[in-house]
Amino acid sequence: MSPISVAIDGPAGAGKSTVAKLVAERLNFLYIDTGAMYRAVAYLCNKEQVDCSDGAAVSHLLRNHDFRFEEGHDMNLQVYIDGEDVTAHLRNPGVSKLVSLVAALPEVRSRLTEWQRAFAVTHSVVMDGRDIGTVVLPHATVKVFLTANVEERARRRLKEYQEQGFDISLGELIQSMAERDRLDSEREVAPLSIADDAVKIDSTGKTINGVVEEILRLVENAH
Ligand code: C5P
Repeated sequence: MSPISVAIDGPAGAGKSTVAKLVAERLNFLYIDTGAMYRAVAYLCNKEQVDCSDGAAVSHLLRNHDFRFEEGHDMNLQVYIDGEDVTAHLRNPGVSKLVSLVAALPEVRSRLTEWQRAFAVTHSVVMDGRDIGTVVLPHATVKVFLTANVEERARRRLKEYQEQGFDISLGELIQSMAERDRLDSEREVAPLSIADDAVKIDSTGKTINGVVEEILRLVENAH
């Protein structure tokens, strides 16, 4: 049987990764967090002091460092750069600030899109991101666009940051998420947008389990 793919796109903090992991677990599919891949590039730029908006310099970095992605514990994507596990650094506010810049570079997107597609050739996947249903997997079995209002999204992220010990206010977070959404939606290459054949799910006020069940039903009805 050919692999099945579930694409979950949406803005920052919509609950994509939590929901995608649970759907993948229930279906026994591989979960691919494509945001972690873009974050890894931003992390390396920051570490090597490379300008995140300089396409030539960032491409050079991509060519000269060894990126490896593996399924880790808790289904998280484990990211290695030159053999070093950098996963724990990828969700830092500093990386979040830079990531939309590298994600706007066509050179970066084409390389990462290749890596993402390769996973879906060999495995049934649940993949989350911004352009999975529109660009990476246009023939995905099921496409979901998951959203929630910005305040609820910021509250969820605030909780995550507080658990990790970062000191950031709700106001700052609302502002930085809205800015990231704006950059992601307005960029020229593969902007955040809803695929024509995607099912839109607004998770505001819904439980995680409710959303997971909704997606599982879509998958069940699709084949
Ligand atoms: O999903 P997450 O918040 O970790 O994504 C981080 C950033 O990576 C997004 O704000 C976006 O700029 C970029 N991204 C993207 N395309 C994807 C996944 C993430 O441009 N498929």
